[in-house]
Amino acid sequence: MSAPIISLAHVSRIYEMGHVTVPALDDVSLDVHEGEFVAIVGPSGSGKSTMMNILGCLDRPTAGSYSLAGTAVESLGDDALARVRSRTIGFVFQSYNLLPRTTALDNVATPLLYQGIRGAERRRRATAALGRLGLADRLDHEPTELSGGQQQRVAVARAIVTEPALILADEPTGNLDSHAGAEVMALFRELNAAGRTIVLITHDAEVAAAAGRQIHLRDGRVAA
Ligand SMILES: Nc1ncnc2c1ncn2[C@@H]1O[C@H](COP(=O)(O)OP(=O)(O)OP(=O)(O)O)[C@@H](O)[C@H]1O
Ligand SMILES: [Mg+2]
Repeated sequence: MSAPIISLAHVSRIYEMGHVTVPALDDVSLDVHEGEFVAIVGPSGSGKSTMMNILGCLDRPTAGSYSLAGTAVESLGDDALARVRSRTIGFVFQSYNLLPRTTALDNVATPLLYQGIRGAERRRRATAALGRLGLADRLDHEPTELSGGQQQRVAVARAIVTEPALILADEPTGNLDSHAGAEVMALFRELNAAGRTIVLITHDAEVAAAAGRQIHLRDGRVAA
């Protein structure tokens, strides 16, 4: 098997609340290899979002070590970490998180702007990504002019436009009806078949069943 793209070694994340400490993640060790499709499942409060924030470099472990694409995250300053994140990871959120009053095309082109890619090339790539998601005829639509499922497809286009090795998705089907949710899951399976590594958070067993591997969290620990 290929090198792990994600490697957590004895990672803990403890929240300090006055006299109370909450071990939201408690000594988690986990490898995800390139090309895997992994679902992280667990009940409310089990540490899923805490884990996602750490995997996405939006938060840092209290203890333990996290390597992303071979780089130890704890060795990087905030700027270097932001660069690794934008180069390596595409994010998809439950609530789409599209820019309001901004066309689908400009929403999808935005991550390329941060990478310093010039305007014509940004438009070319964003148009291609939206075309792949069946939205070629919705380039000029703003989020309020799109259905929920279409907005989530725009969000997936935005996540893949930079060709990231890893897609992190936090409850990506949470706001969708079952048909639109199934469409988004089919998309993830396609992206995975084309070589993308996908890590998906869900509390929905049916959604999790679409992944190649499930990791069950309980009270901040990986259940056996
Ligand atoms: N900022 C914080 N400060 C203190 N405690 C926190 C904080 N964020 C989360 N927690 C606690 O850490 C534990 C894990 O929370 P987390 O949000 O990771 O759970 P989750 O599995 O994502 O739950 P849900 O399915 O409800 O979203 C919970 O007990 C929660 O109360
Ligand atoms: Mg959560």
